[in-house]
Amino acid sequence: AKGLFTYDPGFMSTASCDSQITFIDGDKGILLHRGYPIEQLAEKSDYLEVCYLLMYGELPSAEEKEHFVRTVKKHTMVHEQLSFFYRGFRRDAHPMAIMCGVVGALSAFYHDSLDINDSQHREIAAFRLISKMPTLAAMCYKYSTGQPFMFPRNDLTYAENFLHMMFGTPCEEYKPNPILANAMDRIFLLHADHEQNASTSTVRLAGSSGANPFACVASGIAALWGPAHGGANEAVLSMLEQIGDEERIPEFIERAKDKDDPFRLMGFGHRVYKNFDPRAKVMKQTCDEVLGELGLDNDPLLRIAKRLEQIALEDPYFVERKLYPNVDFYSGIILKAIGIPTNMFTVIFALSRTIGWIAHWHEHHSSPIARIGRPRQLYLGEKKRDYPER
Ligand code: SDX
Repeated sequence: AKGLFTYDPGFMSTASCDSQITFIDGDKGILLHRGYPIEQLAEKSDYLEVCYLLMYGELPSAEEKEHFVRTVKKHTMVHEQLSFFYRGFRRDAHPMAIMCGVVGALSAFYHDSLDINDSQHREIAAFRLISKMPTLAAMCYKYSTGQPFMFPRNDLTYAENFLHMMFGTPCEEYKPNPILANAMDRIFLLHADHEQNASTSTVRLAGSSGANPFACVASGIAALWGPAHGGANEAVLSMLEQIGDEERIPEFIERAKDKDDPFRLMGFGHRVYKNFDPRAKVMKQTCDEVLGELGLDNDPLLRIAKRLEQIALEDPYFVERKLYPNVDFYSGIILKAIGIPTNMFTVIFALSRTIGWIAHWHEHHSSPIARIGRPRQLYLGEKKRDYPER
């Protein structure tokens, strides 16, 4: 592979939030990864190739990709001691709580040998995270079911291996289903990076202090968990199940508009997109393809989602506020069709976004003027005053 994360010295990062990785135009609904439109990557690329692109800035040659995939496969196993961490959690612990813990704990295994000022060391940390996140994520699910952890299989693709570790057992080999594996890879790809969102900004800020990359990614997992951010995909499924019937959609649309009602249309709206989230369009097409291929195109939740989107997009409240479906609106329906339980949806988001977090983490450290991030506030409190005589 090329020299890791080639940093273009001509691009002088004047602030910790400057970046060359992802471009978003919220008004036009444009998302580019290193200049390539997300629609083209979703159609022609795959998740590990996009990981390479986000890390190195260019698409790999066939040889570079083969080397990259082989290196990722080398690190898919986790230290045996790590499995003991899971046993400290209740079986019904939310998998995101477990992921915050075990990913942070990786720093205890790789801390001493890591010099974050050495770009080769940063590359090794990146490979370890890309490789181990599916293993750790699947272990969360296995732990909740009481089934044994499954070792990774390097004869499978990245997505097939994840599904194998999720659904395979020692007694019954997981037979990769290409429809599900392709859908899984597409979901990984669509969530890979998204500029300076809340969790990526958290990772960059944590990383700017020189903290261990595994601990930084754990901070990103914590930030992603919120329902306003990565937790929305799980919340969309709950919302669709709560609506339960197309007849009840108008009632919930009115509730979403009522300021006194905490109910919001999950999977709708975005801090940046004031037009369609381009990922949502691809996700909707993927949803139609996958559920069609699986013979589930009459899925009641899909019907409710489509009708809900249609009504909301014609409602002045949503139109005036430029509220459109975002990446989370259809992803949960695909994940459910793959057989992923809803409490694992945000874990899948975290797994997918790890490459974005670590690419941004590295980009900060590769800048010749890398400094600690230190947001300032607009102070609105009391003016200086003396302690009263008593
Ligand atoms: C992700 O930043 C990223 O890039 C994130 C992400 C990524 O890839 O990293 O794209 C992933 O987090 C997508 C967003 C997932 N979250 C949800 O789907 C939760 C539901 N959405 C909302 O909570 C909300 O839209 C946010 C949190 C996404 C944005 O919140 P904002 O910034 O407060 O929304 P806004 O400023 O655009 O709101 C404008 C108006 C407000 O009403 P008014 O005060 O003008 O009357 O629209 C209203 C909001 O109350 N509004 C909604 C709404 N979202 C905004 N009303 C009902 N339902 C909604 N979903």
